[in-house]
Amino acid sequence: MPSVLPDGDPVPASGELPPSALDGLGSRPFGFYVHVPFCLTRCGYCDFNTYTAAELGPGASQRDYASTAIEEVRLARRVLGDAAPPVETVFFGGGTPTLLPPEDLVRILGAVDEEFGLAPGAEVTTEANPESVTQHSLEVLRDGGFTRVSFGMQSASEHVLTVLDRRHTPGRAGTAVQEARKAGFDHVNLDLIYSTPGETDDDWRASLDAALAAGPDHVSAYSLIVEEGTRLAARIRRGELPMPDDDVAADRYLIAEEMLASAGFRWYEVSNWAVSDEARCRHNLLYWTGGDWWGVGPGAHSHVGGTRWWNVKHPAPYAARLASGESPGHAREVLTADDRAVERLMLELRLATGFPLADVRPSARPACAKALADGLLEVEPFKSGRAVLTLRGRLLADALIRDLA
Ligand SMILES: C[S@@+](CC[C@H](N)C(=O)[O-])C[C@H]1O[C@@H](n2cnc3c(N)ncnc32)[C@H](O)[C@@H]1O
Ligand code: SF4
Repeated sequence: MPSVLPDGDPVPASGELPPSALDGLGSRPFGFYVHVPFCLTRCGYCDFNTYTAAELGPGASQRDYASTAIEEVRLARRVLGDAAPPVETVFFGGGTPTLLPPEDLVRILGAVDEEFGLAPGAEVTTEANPESVTQHSLEVLRDGGFTRVSFGMQSASEHVLTVLDRRHTPGRAGTAVQEARKAGFDHVNLDLIYSTPGETDDDWRASLDAALAAGPDHVSAYSLIVEEGTRLAARIRRGELPMPDDDVAADRYLIAEEMLASAGFRWYEVSNWAVSDEARCRHNLLYWTGGDWWGVGPGAHSHVGGTRWWNVKHPAPYAARLASGESPGHAREVLTADDRAVERLMLELRLATGFPLADVRPSARPACAKALADGLLEVEPFKSGRAVLTLRGRLLADALIRDLA
């Protein structure tokens, strides 16, 4: 979640949604995102809405955060009412959710279960920094109903971790995966970042080797994005570090695909690979396929039935609003049918299941025909007329999607 929030229409103090949003609630999968806006230190490349200060004001500091977040879960129940279905997926993201005591995360999950009910076999994920968990904390999370953990490994190379300002040693992510397995987690993801300034092809291969040796069932690999306003952007501007190069990033993506595929991982979204369908992240699939979710926490975004809203950014006004019984919603927008069609293409085209050719807008059909002719898209007969990115198409996905949207 980027830290700059867009403008939009006002959100009523009650948080009430337009009737169109509640139409069909329950016919789409429903999930919760819980943002935990705290980190021990801020990594130089990171633009997420997160704070390192211990004191942020009443209800907003780490020790009070679980109770504040639970207030928003209760608000969600009042707003969505009895038509809300059981929750299929819950995702705790950050920031660093595992900076909070594991009991606090379990307490927030318990409130979601109490207010809405968790669907049988619900997926419950937490992001975690490798250095922010212990065998014990992972066991508390697993016993408390968490089913999946996603570690920010980023790299196995010490000099790359230094450029990224990461706090963990190269080996810590692998040990954390072993601890998670021992605690009973069947689903473990490792996040990796490639094309960091100073990283070589061999560094990247070594990171992939180390990630695979740790035995996750899911890997996310992201090209380093230089976000405006970050320390990394300033260092690049001053000439201390080179700008990541697009051609280098493309080569690293090809290395990732080759090594992950050889190890039995299949891509299911441009930046995501899993060993089986069960190992895919159901929560992210819910985002990418137009599901409904409520985002709890400062700056968190929500989407229900074509209405999208986002909370105030700073934890202090966020907590103050909830303490006075008001929605922390900062602004919202009701998506038009056209907005939704564009958004659907932008998300579904990144998936290995592709996008139905018949739904490509007439104005984008020439660009689509060209992408098929150029070998960026292919139509797989068994996917019944859906256009799927080829490997070369995956390298150029952002530009191609802009042309087709
Ligand atoms: C915001 S972090 C939250 C989880 C946890 N605090 C961590 O750092 O692992 C989620 C993931 O986003 C990715 N990420 C964050 N900023 C990024 C950037 N500027 N470029 C590429 N990936 C980024 C990292 O891979 C990270 O693991
Ligand atoms: S630990 Fe994660 S969320 Fe926190 S600053 Fe680093 S990348 Fe961002």
